[in-house]
Amino acid sequence: MKTFAIVNRKGGVGKTTTAVNLAYVLATSCQLRVLLVDADGQANATQILLPPGEYAGLGALLRGLVICYDELTISTDVPGLDVLPAAEDLWALDLEAAGGDRGRCYRALRDMREAMEEDGAYDVMVIDCPPNLSAACVSAILASDAVIIPVLSDACSATGVGDLVDQIASLRSLHPALRVSGVLVNQWHRSPVVEDSVAYLREEGMVPVYDTVIRRTDKVPESSWARMAVQAWSPFCSAARDYRAWVAELAEKEGIRYGQA
Ligand SMILES: Nc1ncnc2c1ncn2[C@@H]1O[C@H](COP(=O)(O)OP(=O)(O)O)[C@@H](O)[C@H]1O
Ligand SMILES: [Mg+2]
Repeated sequence: MKTFAIVNRKGGVGKTTTAVNLAYVLATSCQLRVLLVDADGQANATQILLPPGEYAGLGALLRGLVICYDELTISTDVPGLDVLPAAEDLWALDLEAAGGDRGRCYRALRDMREAMEEDGAYDVMVIDCPPNLSAACVSAILASDAVIIPVLSDACSATGVGDLVDQIASLRSLHPALRVSGVLVNQWHRSPVVEDSVAYLREEGMVPVYDTVIRRTDKVPESSWARMAVQAWSPFCSAARDYRAWVAELAEKEGIRYGQA
C-alpha cells in the first residue's frame, strides 16, 4: 500500500485541497481503493468528504483507545474512497503526548498501515497533515513512503522549502527509507514573482519539483465553501484538470498503476 503524507508547516498552501483531490482522483480515475486520513484538528478534509456528524477519529487511534482501523474508517459517496476522520480532540494530543507515551503515538499510524497491508484493505493511503510538526504529523510522516509538499508560488514559500526538507530529513533516524516525492506548486498564475519563484525552486534542485503546477482559480475556494472536492464541484475548471494531470505524473513516478497500486 503506497502511503503519502501531504506536509507543509505553513497553513493555507493547499495541503487539504491536494490531499482531497489526490484521494478523489486515485479512487475515481484510477479505480483504486483509497483511504484519506485526516491528521489535522481543523478537520477540513473530513468536512469536505463526510456529512456533518460526530466521528471518533484519528485522536482515538493515536491515544491507543481504538486499535481496529475498521472501527474508525467511514465510506464516502465516492466509490472506493474512505476517510479516517479528524476531530477537535487532536488539538490536545501534543500536551498529552508530552507527558504520556509519545512513542506509541508516533507508531500508531505505522502499526495501522501494517494491519491494513496484512488485510489488503487499501491500495493507497493519503494523509492530510496539520500546519505544524505535531505528534499527529510525525506519526503521519513515519507511516509514509514519501512526503508531498504543496507550496504557494511566491518567493517566501520557495525559500522556506529548504528548512522543511531539513526537518523531514531529521526524521530519517526513525524512518531511514523516508523520501520527499516532490514539491507541488499551487495557486500558480502568470506573474513575475510566481514565475521567478518556481524557476528558483527548480534550479535550486534540493528537492524534486513536479512538472505539473496547479493553477489558481476561484473554483477552489468556491468548492471549499460548498464543502465539496473541486473534482465534483467543477470538474473541468483549470485546477481540477491540473490535479488530474498531476496525479497521472505522480502515479507514473511512484509506480502506481490504474486499478492496482
Ligand atoms: N489552486 C487554488 N486556487 C485558488 N484557491 C486555492 C487553490 N488551492 C487552494 N486554494 C484555497 O486556499 C485556501 C487554503 O487551502 P487548503 O487546501 O485548505 O490549505 P492548507 O490545508 O494547507 O491550509 C482554501 O481557501 C482553498 O480554497
Ligand atoms: Mg488543511
